[in-house]
Amino acid sequence: MALSQERLGKYNPEKPTENRITDIGPRHFWEFFPPVIQKNYGKWLYHDILEPGIMVHVSETGDKVFTVRCGGSRFMTAENIREICDIADKYCDGYVRFTTRNNIEFMVTSYEKVEALKKDLLSRKYISGSYKFPIGGTGAGVTNIVHTQGYIHCHTPATDASSMVKAIMDELMDYFTGMTLPAHVRISVACCLNMCGAVHCSDIALLGIHRKPPIVDDNIDSICEIPLAITACPVGAISPGKTEDGRKTVKIKEERCMFCGNCYTMCPALPIADKLGDGVAVLAGGKISNRISEPKFSKVIVPWLPNNFPRFPEVVATVKKIIEVYAAEARKYERIGDWAERIGWEKFFEKCELPFTEHLIDDYRLAYDTYRTSTQFKFTGAAWEVSRAAGGIDD
Ligand code: HEM
Ligand code: HEM
Ligand code: SF4
Ligand code: SF4
Repeated sequence: MALSQERLGKYNPEKPTENRITDIGPRHFWEFFPPVIQKNYGKWLYHDILEPGIMVHVSETGDKVFTVRCGGSRFMTAENIREICDIADKYCDGYVRFTTRNNIEFMVTSYEKVEALKKDLLSRKYISGSYKFPIGGTGAGVTNIVHTQGYIHCHTPATDASSMVKAIMDELMDYFTGMTLPAHVRISVACCLNMCGAVHCSDIALLGIHRKPPIVDDNIDSICEIPLAITACPVGAISPGKTEDGRKTVKIKEERCMFCGNCYTMCPALPIADKLGDGVAVLAGGKISNRISEPKFSKVIVPWLPNNFPRFPEVVATVKKIIEVYAAEARKYERIGDWAERIGWEKFFEKCELPFTEHLIDDYRLAYDTYRTSTQFKFTGAAWEVSRAAGGIDD
């Protein structure tokens, strides 16, 4: 249903509120349900994952729905969407859906159709060779990476999202099309610590960070609400000041600033992006579900890796290493956070061969609770090194 220009007239810039339609909300999802989903809504009995990317849901009426899940790049052209629509028209009576992790799901009502659909999907490639619709993302594997705008659209990023995601998924493709891990591994990316999306609650998260304080532009008094910039700072590093010619400005105590970039979000006169300073922090151990253990925040495990465009080799290698060690060591159903907490974070660092540095020790307000207030710990190579450096220990 297109908007009728005849019925309501064309947009008239002279009378912008005339014929204005507003507050109509989203279309009701029921309109877009395949008939079999409408019919069996609320009556599903059980489901199975038949193979990676392919599920069947069985209803109490006996009806079955087969779902084929494909990776989506999230950032798509209208042409990509039209191709998805063509596939949906051909196999699924025009119905299709997108998941909470931006995968694409095609649903059909018989297994014969699954085979044809699968063949068709896997035959579609970009001229560069990448699969347009790789099938997978179910069960205990690595599904799509929840990610953000990066340099494609945002003005506050410290890294890029789409290119990093492509580099990581290329390397982890076998985990997307397979279900070989102890449990789901959710990876997400945010290009600044606004953390749009899921980095604070993912098994592995990549986060763009700055390492230098913002620069104060002389024009600040004409383009910023200075009190907003001052109150934006989580560590109180900004105070009001005066320029030499008597105009209002701010002073930034550089030794206090931890480069969050919040003040730049509030005030365009405080740019912070820096080619060499900016990079990627790695977090691990978060989860959203309540399965067995409660939801967890992810924790910083690597303070900084370089923005090595376009393929981020250091980031990709770190992610791969963590997943490989986790795959080899964790028990069935253990998420990365469950595993790290069971073996102890000191063992996590040792096994993943990650150096532990002072950057990883919390120093923000409620930090105390993150320190060890117990004598329960395991000796690791790194701990022995500290003891040796302190002296009095013989090998
Ligand atoms: C009480 C009902 C449900 C619960 C408690 C539930 C819970 C969950 C949880 C916890 C996850 C994430 C798993 C993880 O990351 O560990 C998930 C993923 C998902 N759920 Fe549900 N779910 C429910 C119903 C449904 C229904 C009815 C549908 C579809 C008709 C659905 C479709 C999905 C999909 C597609 C994903 C994965 C998205 C992706 O990875 O791309 N869920 N669900
Ligand atoms: C009653 C309220 C909510 C319910 C039932 C709910 C349920 C879910 C479920 C089932 C998923 C899928 C998990 C997965 O695919 O792994 C999900 C994902 C997500 N939700 Fe919510 N959610 C709720 C509220 C919120 C709120 C308030 C926020 C943000 C402040 C939020 C942010 C997210 C994000 C960022 C994801 C993607 C993370 C991921 O897929 O790993 N949700 N939510
Ligand atoms: S995470 Fe930050 S940089 Fe990335 S889209 Fe969100 S606000 Fe913009
Ligand atoms: S970047 Fe963050 S910490 Fe630094 S001055 Fe701005 S708001 Fe404060």
